[in-house]
Amino acid sequence: MKLRKVREGKVELLVPDVDIPEHGRRVAFYNPAMEIDRNISVAAVAIFRETYSKLFGEEPVVFDALTATGVRAIRYAKEAGVRLCVACDVNENAARLAAENARLNDVEVEVLNSDARKVMLERNFDVIDLDPFGTPANFLPFAARSLKRFSLLCVTATDTATLFGKYPDASMRRYFLRSASVEFAKELGLRILLSFVIRECARYNKAFIPKLCYAHRHYVRCIGLVERRKEKADSLIECFSPLYVSSKEWRTEPFGDSCFVGTLFLGPTKDAEFCERVEKFMLTHGLKGSELVERIKEELDIPFYYDLTSIAKQLKIHQPRVERVLTELRRRGYGASRSAIQSTGIKTNARLETVEKVVKELARF
Ligand SMILES: C[S@@+](CC[C@H](N)C(=O)[O-])C[C@H]1O[C@@H](n2cnc3c(N)ncnc32)[C@H](O)[C@@H]1O
Repeated sequence: MKLRKVREGKVELLVPDVDIPEHGRRVAFYNPAMEIDRNISVAAVAIFRETYSKLFGEEPVVFDALTATGVRAIRYAKEAGVRLCVACDVNENAARLAAENARLNDVEVEVLNSDARKVMLERNFDVIDLDPFGTPANFLPFAARSLKRFSLLCVTATDTATLFGKYPDASMRRYFLRSASVEFAKELGLRILLSFVIRECARYNKAFIPKLCYAHRHYVRCIGLVERRKEKADSLIECFSPLYVSSKEWRTEPFGDSCFVGTLFLGPTKDAEFCERVEKFMLTHGLKGSELVERIKEELDIPFYYDLTSIAKQLKIHQPRVERVLTELRRRGYGASRSAIQSTGIKTNARLETVEKVVKELARF
């Protein structure tokens, strides 16, 4: 297959010369649409590396478990200052290309052509990046076991049809939580993956502490610190609660025509201070996507959101601007912020009736 050279961040890569990423899969999958996700990950890994080396006086070992062209491992080495980087792909062509790309960028990356699960059974890592086709569910138990006592875990899921409610039965089988096609489905999907990650880590007495978790375009990403501390793992489990949802609302007990999702993590999905550092790193290094991190940073730690467009449509009224609704809710004493996931989403501790009342009043002016 013909290859072409692309530039991403500070690296140059040989990638399959195809218009649709899927078509290059036989050689090595490369999707330029994931650049923002990789930029955020470079920043997160750089920040972790700095903290780790200050704490322990040594360098963390990073595992890019499903590397394809090697892009993540190579960027971690070149842009995040990682000195010990291992990249793995079960596809022989991909592993070969990843090694060639590492040479092209003059970075040292140990490239393995193996099943990443086997590698994670045999070795322990300080950072693991899981970026699979579809669900990471099959890889997570291995990563949770392999991670050391103070580490970083970055996980992507692209099975968004399952997570966002199109296939609730598949969601039940994979994550043991039932997704639902509700107006806040994207955050529900994010929390389904996050709950699964936290539970998998907890089985090894490890706490997955969410640092920057988000749903964007066709994927969901959870980045978190992993610490082997039983008490911390217990405190995360305490943030789990039974969850019932209807198309517009959610509660922790049954209501109206609600259905049961399962027992889900309802705690914070990000750490604002960490987001701030990621945002700063991205701005300093000219990496695209810092606005997304800023939006995530500014979200209130309140689960889910109401969709303003759908409220206005149902009430058959003119849709006021999101900012006006937020200001009015705050004036009435409620917490309110935008949702980073949905531009018309309103995160608030006010009940739906209150939000509808505010929207109706504002629509008159
Ligand atoms: C979505 S692609 C990775 C894309 C890459 N991380 C990036 O950012 O461009 C998933 C990769 O995982 C590889 N893969 C699938 N199963 C694997 C396994 N069990 N062990 C190692 N690699 C695997 C595939 O060959 C494919 O290259």
